[in-house]
Amino acid sequence: MLKDPTLTEWPDDGSSPSSATFPVFDPASPTSILAQVSSRDAKAAIEKCHDALPAWRDQTTAMHRSSLLSEWSKLIQSNSEDLATIMTLESGKALSESRGEVSYAKSFLDYYAAEAIRPTGAGGDPKGHVMAVQQAVGVSAMIAPWNFPLAMITRKVGPCLAAGCCAVAKPSELTPLSAIALKNLADRAGIPDGVFELVTASTESTPQVGTEFCTNPLVKKVSFTGSTRVGKILMQQASGTVKKVSMELGGNACFVVFEDADIDNAVNAAVSSKFRNAGQTCVCSDRFLIHASVHDEFVSKLAEKVKNMKVGPGMDPDTQMGPMINVAAVQSVTEKVKSAVADGATLYEQGSLPEDGTLLGPNSHFYPPTVLTNVSLDSDIWKTETFGPVAAIVSFETDEEALQIANNVDVGLASYFCTKDLSRAFSFAHKLEVGMVGVNEGIISSTVAPFGGVKESGIGTEGSPLGIKEYLETKYIFMKTAQ
Ligand code: SIN
Repeated sequence: MLKDPTLTEWPDDGSSPSSATFPVFDPASPTSILAQVSSRDAKAAIEKCHDALPAWRDQTTAMHRSSLLSEWSKLIQSNSEDLATIMTLESGKALSESRGEVSYAKSFLDYYAAEAIRPTGAGGDPKGHVMAVQQAVGVSAMIAPWNFPLAMITRKVGPCLAAGCCAVAKPSELTPLSAIALKNLADRAGIPDGVFELVTASTESTPQVGTEFCTNPLVKKVSFTGSTRVGKILMQQASGTVKKVSMELGGNACFVVFEDADIDNAVNAAVSSKFRNAGQTCVCSDRFLIHASVHDEFVSKLAEKVKNMKVGPGMDPDTQMGPMINVAAVQSVTEKVKSAVADGATLYEQGSLPEDGTLLGPNSHFYPPTVLTNVSLDSDIWKTETFGPVAAIVSFETDEEALQIANNVDVGLASYFCTKDLSRAFSFAHKLEVGMVGVNEGIISSTVAPFGGVKESGIGTEGSPLGIKEYLETKYIFMKTAQ
């Protein structure tokens, strides 16, 4: 199925004491094991990065680092179909989405290849010369999630390497094959040994890797994308050696439709925001607030789209929404919907499941796209991130009410709203307590834009010129010139 099957070759390097392997499954067909992946030891990988750091940081020019990142990006482009296939097979997402993610992942390398060569600033003082230099932070450890198996790695490793740091990354145990392919392409691009190391580990060993990353004194920075619960544990562990941290944590995004919105556009934006990757993104809209005067029209148009959505294995070219990542994810969404209905919500629409009955049954990873209306604000599905293909809808009467409900959560990653009123758009965007806002648009992630949350959604920024600053620290040097 792959043009280049060597992309996922991952020999046992003997670093893991137990020489353990762990299985990787296809979520569309959970009984089939795609591969057995050998584990790699976190401490050994950190030490390799530490050894590689002086040469990478001090003896390479920014231009050289930039050219290696560009070469890596070119190899991703020439292997794009294989990378998309690997990603769909292990994460379940529709092939068209995987193809999009290959471009998204590659764009972080192109962007930081260019950012690497921008000059850093210096200034003057009558008594001497004031210089502020930017220096690479050092060995940086990264923990990436399964929902974007390529892009969440390049979004961290791209700026890290561009800044002159070395990266040790742990992919999710659910999607290691995409990361292995990325690492093999990095090697082929000429990224020196130890500059980008990968630590593969099973579910059971993952907490140990996290602890090693956060407590090993050779690591100077930890970057994590994942749940707020785990992010808090990692921050506590990293505080012992006062590491810099970047945390891209959970969300519970609002999608507000005002009475003056273009409803057809709002429905399209809602579908793309809600059902991207079967609702399994941190920035997916979860809480839909629809003005009472347009509520029924919006809901019936959204339900129509949901009814017609083609759900199936990601490798089927007609599939619009693939399976969820595992049975636990399906169970969590099933429970949330059940308890929302018990709290008074209406199950307004549930879309279809795959026609192929062999993909269904108690171990199936498929959950139908779902629309719930009249959801209680006290329901679990409203108060916590859904991470699944369910749109929970309530209606509102005034802008103040919508704002109060939107902000009444501990997290603040992204939110979206639809209106044609310019002054309302600016005012509402300013008052929303989130790091990212989409106005009349449901997908706003972009390499050139700052990605990050406020409140318990995290610390730090990825992407944009700010993304590279996370891997640099400023040193002030004063040189006396006047006698
Ligand atoms: C995420 O869900 O963590 C990232 C999504 C994105 O980059 O759009």
